[in-house]
Parts: sequence; C-alpha cells; structure tokens
Amino acid sequence: MSTDTLYALSVQIVAPSASGTSARSDSAPTAPDTATITVAAASPGKAISSDLLGVFFEDINYSADGGLYAELIQNRSFEYSSADSFGWHAFTAWELVSRAGGSGNVVIDRALPIHPDNPHYVVVRADIPADAPGAAFGLLNLGFDGIPVRAGEAYDVSFFARQCYMGEQWGGDSDIVGRPMPVLVRLESADGRVLGETAFEIAGGDWHRVSGEIVARAADDSARFVVLLLKKGGLALDELSLFPRNTFRGRKNGLRADLAQVIADLKPRFIRFPGGCLVHGNGLGNIYHWKNTVGPVERRKGQPNLWGYHQSVGLGYFEYFQFCEDIGAMPLPVVAAGVCCQNSAHSPGRCQHGIPLAEMPAYIQDVLDLVEWANGPADSKWGAVRAAAGHPAPFGLKYLGVGNEDKINADFRERFHLIHDALREKHPEIVVVGTSGPFARGEDFELGWRFAAELSVPLIDEHYYLPPDWFWENLGRYDAYDRAKSAVYLGEYAAHEKDRRNTLRSALAEAACLTALERNADVVRFASYAPLFAKRGRTQWSPDLVYFTNTAVYPSINYEVQKLFGHHAGDRYLETTIRPAANDTSASPESPRMLAASAVRDTATGDLIVKIVNGAGSARSLRIELAGLASGLAATRIVLSGPDPDAANADDLPPVAVPRTDTVRVAPVFDYLAPAHSLTVFRLTAA
Ligand code: AHR
Repeated sequence: MSTDTLYALSVQIVAPSASGTSARSDSAPTAPDTATITVAAASPGKAISSDLLGVFFEDINYSADGGLYAELIQNRSFEYSSADSFGWHAFTAWELVSRAGGSGNVVIDRALPIHPDNPHYVVVRADIPADAPGAAFGLLNLGFDGIPVRAGEAYDVSFFARQCYMGEQWGGDSDIVGRPMPVLVRLESADGRVLGETAFEIAGGDWHRVSGEIVARAADDSARFVVLLLKKGGLALDELSLFPRNTFRGRKNGLRADLAQVIADLKPRFIRFPGGCLVHGNGLGNIYHWKNTVGPVERRKGQPNLWGYHQSVGLGYFEYFQFCEDIGAMPLPVVAAGVCCQNSAHSPGRCQHGIPLAEMPAYIQDVLDLVEWANGPADSKWGAVRAAAGHPAPFGLKYLGVGNEDKINADFRERFHLIHDALREKHPEIVVVGTSGPFARGEDFELGWRFAAELSVPLIDEHYYLPPDWFWENLGRYDAYDRAKSAVYLGEYAAHEKDRRNTLRSALAEAACLTALERNADVVRFASYAPLFAKRGRTQWSPDLVYFTNTAVYPSINYEVQKLFGHHAGDRYLETTIRPAANDTSASPESPRMLAASAVRDTATGDLIVKIVNGAGSARSLRIELAGLASGLAATRIVLSGPDPDAANADDLPPVAVPRTDTVRVAPVFDYLAPAHSLTVFRLTAA
C-alpha cells in the first residue's frame, strides 16, 4: 500500500463561523475549499499505549550538574581534571581568598581520601596573624556561572573536614593545637557583600561531615560560596556542598524545583535516563556504571561526561528513580550493551569497542544487580542498598534499555545477546528495549531490526533528527509496521531546521508526527523528544525542548506541543480520516500533507480528544464529523498557533505561540476554521 493511500485512509476535513466552530445538523455539502475530518466517535476504537509520551533526560548541555541537580557548588569534590575538558584541573571553579592580612596556600591531595572513589581533596593551610582582626584565609567557589541566591531563602551547607598541620612543628598555631579550627562559611556577592553566613568549629584529625544552614538576607544572581579559616593551622576539605532548601518536593540531595516542575508539567508517563551517548561513553573506560551513582554522594565515582564536562553523579540512579516516582512516571533506565559509543575517541563512527568477553560476566551481573536494586526486597543484597538510601519499597522497574545507537556489528551482537539472555533467564518480567542505530533508516537500522527479530526483543528504540518536511512526508511510517514484530520506542526525535532553531514550523511538524504516533500507538509504545534540557551558554546540542539559566526557565514552542499531547492523551484510538478539499491539488503547500489529525478516547474520563494540525500558511476550512454521535457536546478547545512559522521563543520575551483555551459546544458535525500554522485540541467532555 502506498503512503498516499495509507494517508487517505488514516486521516479526514467546514465553513468557519465567526467563532471558528458552528453547529450543523446534517451533512450539508462542503465548499470546494473545505476538507473533512471524520472521527469514528461512537466506536470502541483500538487499544493504544496509554504511556505513549515521556521524556528523555540526558546529562548534555549541563542538564544535570549545573542544571536539574540542585547542587550549587561546582567541582565540590575536586575531581575535575583535563580528562573532563581542556584546561580543567582539580581546582577549577575555586579561587583562594585572603582577608585582612590572612594568607596561606592550598594543595590538592589524595593521600587519605574520604573514599577511594572520591580520591581528591583540598588541604588548606592558613597563616592568620593573631593580632589582625578579621584576618582569614580560605577558598571561594564560583558555582556554575555564579550561585543564584534569593533573599529570605534557606540554604543547606555541608562539607567533610579534618584538621591537619595540628602540631607546632607543622606550622600550626600553638593556641590551636588540640583545639578546633573556627571556620566561617559565607555567601557573598562578587564585590564581597555578605549575603548570609554560618560558623563551624572543626575538631579532630578524622574526616567527618559538618552541616549547617545559611538564610540569605539579600539576593544575588551570581554569588560566591566562601569558606574562611580564622586561625593559623590547616584543614583538609572535601565534598563542599550548598543546596537550596527548596528542592523539588523538598528532597535532600534533590532537584532544582523549577526545572523538575517543568518536566512534571508535561505529565510524562516515563523518563528514559541517563542517556543517550552518555550511557555507552567515550571509550570503554567511560561507560556509565549505575553502581558508581548510588549510595552516599561522597562515595560516588564521578567521571568525565562525553559531552565535554564532568558528571558528579550526585544525580544518580536513586535520584532518577525517586524523581520518576515523585511525578508518577515509569523509570526507563538504559545500560550500555557492552560496547562504547561508536563516536568515541573523537573518531566518529569508528571507535565502538566491546568490553573484553572475559569481563562480560561481571558486567552482566551489574545489569542483573540493577534489577535487584530497583525491585528486590529490602533484605536482598542490592535491595538493601536502595533501602539504606531511604526507599525500602521496590521501585517497580519494568523496562530496561540495553544499548544506544550502537553499530550493529559482531561485537555488539555478541554482547547484547549475552545481556539479553541473562535478563530473560533471571528476570523474564523485565521488558528489554533494544536499539536500531542512530538513524531512521540505513544499515544499522535494518540490521538492528533484523537482530531484534532473531532474538524476539520486545521493544526497539528508534532515533531520528530530521527536517520538518521529513516529518510531514513520513506520517505514514508506522502505519506499515508489522504488528507481529517488536514494538517501537521512538526514544529520540526532533524536527531539525537548518539553523537548528525551535521554530513554530518544527513544533508543528512534531505535532503532526505525534498524531501519527497516536494512530499507531498500538505498535509505538513510547516516544520521547530529545534532548530535553539545555543551559544557556553551556549547550552542545540544539534544538532542545527547554532552555534555562541559573534563575530562569524558557520552554520552547516544541515543549508546548509535547505538553498538549501529554495532557490530552488517550488509551483508545478512534479511526480518523481526512478527505482533502475538492480544490486541493495536493501539489501546493496547502495540500493535505500539511494537515494531520488524530482522535483518542481517554477511558478514565470518557472524554473524546481530537487533535488537528494545520501546517499550512493559511487558515484551513474544515468540516469535522463525529460519526455516530447523536447529539452535541461541550468541548474545551485549545489552539496553539502563530503568524510566522519561522518564529521561535526568545528568552525573557513573551512566547511567540501560547496555547489559548476556550469552551465551545460542538455538534456531531461542525465547521472549524483551523488557523494557519496551528495545533488545535478539542476535548469533548463525556455527556
Ligand atoms: O540527544 C542527543 C544525542 O543524540 C544522544 O546522546 C544520542 O543518543 C543521539 O545521538
């Protein structure tokens, strides 16, 4: 069947009234410029995934450290190195501070770390004249492009410390030998104004954690975190941390409230994490190992982030799972398929290596342990680790991604097979999500699907970043998928303009795609736009769904599309057909190819939801037939549109396209003038 035929079968379009809708009692003939959308509104419809839309979170563009993870101190454990980024070192983001005649120096040491997985710490040696009031020496941290401080808000300070240089022979002050070291921790503006402070006394030569709070008395978007030693002597310091008390849901070691909320507002049914390419890493030594990311943060093992910075893994598996639970989303973690990224070693497409086969049993055990950590009883080995973190109840993991955009070669196949078989044997309850390479078609795509069929992998992850036109031209893609084969997880997609901006055009192409995904959500189980977040000034990839700074969040138009589909999802698809207008030649941009529609029912509420995307540059005259309905219904109508398809939101300016909501009453057959460049959602409330 051709794509054209499928299109005509899958989707159908009235003379507008002043309000955009009008009631009709019969099927009066349509005007030549009117297309007809017919929805089988009284039919039971077909069952579709009620979990279609979720999010994909990857630590790219400073999405985690400096982003969603609410920690405000950059390089808190002195683990940065030139392996993270050109010119970085263990003291990056830190500076020395001398006040009122105090002096001293620092060394980065690794002789006696808190934990071998957190090997570096700083030793501060202060020389404070006894007769100089206010004299101090210490460190300051610049945060991630400054530390945003709000007046009146509480901040949790903590760090690990032990005294050193305690005897006079080591340069310690005689009056501090055997006495605590007084320490002042401050939030200061760049010009030294004190925004708030708290005091500590560090006593003893063993590592211990101290904590306190600072309530800021003034605000500053770009403050510094200052640690001052007030007497002669020395301290070893590590894991210096500052969190806003106000994290999402007040969680300790938690998430930035506004960024977590912008995700929650999408109503995502699942979260895929922690990547992307981050998962399989830049070389075998950089594969993301979940075990390095759980337990007390000072014992976690950070590592370079293949996107060119550092990952502290303070936002680790526990925090990801907890966030999923907090917002009612399913966790969908991804582990490497025993191979590293094919673009490793700055050699695109050539450097996919496999974990040595002798090491695969240990790697596979890690994967099996992940399931036990997530789902095992609190008295199982790994369930106990979860319980110790404060979550005795299982998390209820159901899906596990294995691999990401891997080259489907012998190395990959062998390792995927081993992991897949082990999971199937030990955890048949876990649904494995395989991979079909980085593109919508081509060798890896074909081989990936063939391999998945051989192994009967239940779900396959597809990725594509393609121009808006491609999305419009491929609305029939999944209509032709064999329902007897693996189901699809469209794990990464976005409409890419040449200049990679988040235009209205790109958002509407994605909306059109989403109508096709809804129609095919019997075979497409999940879908997630990618990437999710990008920090202004720290972005490696665009477009993204949401941009942010330390103090502001800027959702794109594409985000509004995801939100509308997320809020108006259903679990039954109702056959929706589009009959083009009689005068439509299909050759112009006004062709039905720029018109897409889908209808779903949400059986929980009984509501019928019709979505219409008009990608054309002029308003479309539509007749909407709700076949089988005997009487009219109240509807909420939401319209997202803008005059210029090229328009994109600009930070700190009003958004160029905002959803506008009104209520209307629609007849079983009604007319609607769909605005140019628009997505319209009609939510018909069950009678
Ligand atoms: O989403 C950004 C990147 O795109 C992902 O890390 C990778 O899977 C894909 O290539």
